[in-house]
Amino acid sequence: MLNSTIPPLKVDKLSVNRSGRSVLTDVCIKINQGDFVGLVGPNGGGKTTFLLTVLGLLKSKGGTIELYGQSNPSNDVLRKVGWVSQEAANISSNIHLTVRELVQLGTLTSSNMFWRFSSEQNDRVNRAIEMAGLAEVQDSNIFHLSGGQRQRAVIARVLASQAEFILLDEPLVGIDRESRNSLLKFLDTLCHEGHKTILMISHDIAAIQQASHRMIFLEERIRYDGESSCFPDMEYLASLRGIQPLHEAIHKEDKLYQLTDIEDNQ
Ligand SMILES: Nc1ncnc2c1ncn2[C@@H]1O[C@H](COP(=O)(O)OP(=O)(O)OP(=O)(O)O)[C@@H](O)[C@H]1O
Ligand SMILES: [Mg+2]
Repeated sequence: MLNSTIPPLKVDKLSVNRSGRSVLTDVCIKINQGDFVGLVGPNGGGKTTFLLTVLGLLKSKGGTIELYGQSNPSNDVLRKVGWVSQEAANISSNIHLTVRELVQLGTLTSSNMFWRFSSEQNDRVNRAIEMAGLAEVQDSNIFHLSGGQRQRAVIARVLASQAEFILLDEPLVGIDRESRNSLLKFLDTLCHEGHKTILMISHDIAAIQQASHRMIFLEERIRYDGESSCFPDMEYLASLRGIQPLHEAIHKEDKLYQLTDIEDNQ
């Protein structure tokens, strides 16, 4: 059992280069047990790079990453971390799987792969399917599900693997409003009742602001890290990113032009 006072993630002064270009600089993030954190930012801002580096798939240039207090995570710690990738729900249509089979895949490890499912594994699968609200469709082909249900099935697979800290990359893309709301409700329940810790990337700032407790705005560096309810408005965000108010500038130039015009005519 892991100590719940140790943060699932502690990142200090992380820098990452990709193709020789700096993508993350001086990133410091600590995520505590039970947090539901929304990670937002512009395209190419480094969100996926951050997750892939945390998962050890990309090398950092500098800084430290600790998962549950370990910079070289043990297998026990790695089992606690679940990842739902940006494309996870886009399963190839050549793969014919029922919801239950997909979730069962989450319980496979290299040591139990060729054996029958134990009753303990089956219990985990049942619990995950139940939590994801998919009991009624568990024997359906995953392609007969709505986009939102398929996303929940992919998350249920991670739950069946006993992940405690769940990293999600854009789970709201391509799903309708109703599915989005039920997925967010599901994640909220996982956090409050299932005691999971969630770090979720999304472009849907309004949706993530409703669901998460804390938001981080990442564009190479951390531009905002604080309570979701205090997340800055668009104008302030633009100023943080060094974006000039274009219309106002044109408007001012317009006025300036008119002014010089008048002066010239006098
Ligand atoms: N495989 C790669 N090789 C080299 N550079 C890459 C690679 N993947 C991404 N990058 C670059 O790294 C930077 C950060 O990309 P990343 O995918 O982390 O951004 P993101 O915030 O996840 O964007 P999006 O919101 O579009 O998913 C971008 O400039 C991108 O061009
Ligand atoms: Mg991305």
